[in-house]
Amino acid sequence: MNSLTALQQLPANLDKHRLPNHVAVIMDGNGRWAKNRTLPRIMGHQRGVDTLKDLLRCCQDWGIPALTVYAFSTENWGRPEEEVKFLMTLFERVLRRELDEMMTENVRIRFIGNLNSLPQSLQDEISYSMDKTATNSGINFSVATNYGGRQEIINACQKIADQVKQGLINVNEINEKLFESYLYTSGIPNPDLLIRTSGEMRLSNFLLWQMAYAEIYVTQTLWPDFDRTEFQKALLDYQQRNRRFGKL
Ligand code: FPP
Repeated sequence: MNSLTALQQLPANLDKHRLPNHVAVIMDGNGRWAKNRTLPRIMGHQRGVDTLKDLLRCCQDWGIPALTVYAFSTENWGRPEEEVKFLMTLFERVLRRELDEMMTENVRIRFIGNLNSLPQSLQDEISYSMDKTATNSGINFSVATNYGGRQEIINACQKIADQVKQGLINVNEINEKLFESYLYTSGIPNPDLLIRTSGEMRLSNFLLWQMAYAEIYVTQTLWPDFDRTEFQKALLDYQQRNRRFGKL
């Protein structure tokens, strides 16, 4: 067995039949990682991209069909202008750089959130990559950008209300299934596992509806240090949970 094969294999202590169908991640701690090294915060984000790339690859290798990451919240506009600008440029640059590889690896990428207020050049790059990968049948990779969970729910309500107004939907037809079809994540199963790095015990307005029954795993590890071994630990912890979904 060569070293590449070894890397791709699911670790022996994980049960392949009990893997989450969808992992959501709040990638927190980039700034602290950089500060600990007396580097500018943006270096933490830069390193965070490498971590993300490896996690995506790992999900593919180990057979996890969906990954959603929180890249930029509706609240993140409140950061210093220079950092916001850097992040927008970083998203654009990474997208352009990684698109060919995503095609080769059959990744379907989606951006979720209020994309209209992103810089036009980033919006163009996003539309291009989403269209190009739309029929890929591999991992569903979603990037929450200018995303807010409450906003997503309001957005779904507005769309449904509009359909009701037009007489296309009857009020008593509104149920969970229909509601979900109006969310950004329509067609993707709800996350089974939420990972949050760097210790904070908050949802931070991330996938509020979708995360109703997600198992939450919080680690002190800062995002740039969240490697395969850390991911393996999170999955092992997840597999030891008894998921009851409100039942006994
Ligand atoms: C949180 O750390 C991190 C972010 C707000 C940005 C995350 C973005 C990436 C890792 C890049 C992803 C790229 C693509 C193309 C999807 P923080 O700055 O809040 O860290 P701190 O809490 O230590 O200050």
